[in-house]
Amino acid sequence: MKLVVRNDDRAVAALTARLVADLLKARPDCVLGLATGRTMERVYDALVEIGHAEALDFSRCRTFNLDEYIGLPPGSAHSYRAYMNDHLFSRIAIPLENTMLPDGSAADLAAEAARYEDAIRRAGGIDLQLVGIGETGHIGFNEPLSSFTSRTRDITLAPGTRRQNAVLFDRDIDAVPRRALTMGVGTILEARRVVLVATGAAKAGILAQAVEGPVTPMISATALHFHPDSLAIVDEDAAPHLKHREYYDSVFATDPEFASFNA
Ligand code: F6R
Repeated sequence: MKLVVRNDDRAVAALTARLVADLLKARPDCVLGLATGRTMERVYDALVEIGHAEALDFSRCRTFNLDEYIGLPPGSAHSYRAYMNDHLFSRIAIPLENTMLPDGSAADLAAEAARYEDAIRRAGGIDLQLVGIGETGHIGFNEPLSSFTSRTRDITLAPGTRRQNAVLFDRDIDAVPRRALTMGVGTILEARRVVLVATGAAKAGILAQAVEGPVTPMISATALHFHPDSLAIVDEDAAPHLKHREYYDSVFATDPEFASFNA
């Protein structure tokens, strides 16, 4: 894993969006793995901005989202499909048929999970997967005890996750679904690159545990230590409990990948 600390959430979003934009320029037919949540809102704003400024071509890329709630009414504004349409897809020229999310309203959830895994495989796998981190340490909705070999499946959301996400449901925790379909930890680990984005003081404790270990299925983000190319991009507010800060700062200053940001 590599870790970089940027000043604030805007700088985190700018760096994350730059990595996605550079991949798109190099490979317009790349496969992106996307996440939802408040952290990603700034990332998508930054990506839309770069897209306009640099005439990015999104027309040939395909996207797979990490997860979707189960049991929302059809067309719900709280669905992750609605989130993605609002925050990204309607703001860039991407054909909607190239944008995939698991279908949380499927009658047969196991069949839907298998179909989603198959669709990722048939697309050639995910080139770059964005993940946020939940206050329970989840990536996707892989709550504590998720096997590191888990695949896309339906899962019960942790009470902490439902409390965290209630802000997106007008603070009505009872409105937050109890279950979701999520890519598994094993699914995420198969992406060719995984970029974890964490901002804000609420993530400081769990981020330190996720990054500096110990590795445990109680915190699914620790599984990223088994990935050969994972990168954590975090802001100062999320970073105060990191012990090896001096080292992380030297990585950002010297790694050629970040040279243009240090110029
Ligand atoms: C969203 C997802 C979640 C979020 C995480 C952080 O698709 O899979 O893992 O990334 O809960 O959410 P925010 O950014 O709202 O703190």
